[in-house]
Amino acid sequence: MAIERTFSMIKPDATRRNLTGAITKMLEDAGLQVIASRRVWMSRREAEGFYAVHKDRPFFGELVESMSAGPTVIQVLQGENAIAKNREIMGATNPTQAAEGTIRKTHALSIGENSVHGSDAPETAAVEIAYWFSETEIVG
Ligand code: CMP
Repeated sequence: MAIERTFSMIKPDATRRNLTGAITKMLEDAGLQVIASRRVWMSRREAEGFYAVHKDRPFFGELVESMSAGPTVIQVLQGENAIAKNREIMGATNPTQAAEGTIRKTHALSIGENSVHGSDAPETAAVEIAYWFSETEIVG
């Protein structure tokens, strides 16, 4: 199986509740290694740019608002099959549909405040990592 990199965010609803360590531990316990990490308070413009693919969705305004409402921890994760593994440990986007033991089932408040984001494919992982990190900040 291939060693991959993926992009992860611990969202403002989770940093507000002091869950950065708890969520990072769940990622590490699943075999993922944090090879870059930074705490950012993203601007509305940065949130709009990051989530541009959703700009025509009815929830876009709410999404931008919640993502710029407090600090986010942005990370690059590395490991075997990291993209799928991260999505498995995150659980379904809507926490009411997330499996037991997943981050979203354990910690998320709602679909809008769902505690974490993770890239969904190799192409998006590359774009999302490059949106926030330069190569020199990633130490694998
Ligand atoms: P995320 O994985 O960060 O990708 C896009 C985000 O949009 C998603 O998690 C949710 O937080 C949010 N989102 C998706 N669908 C809805 C919805 N129906 N209502 C509010 N927010 C949503």
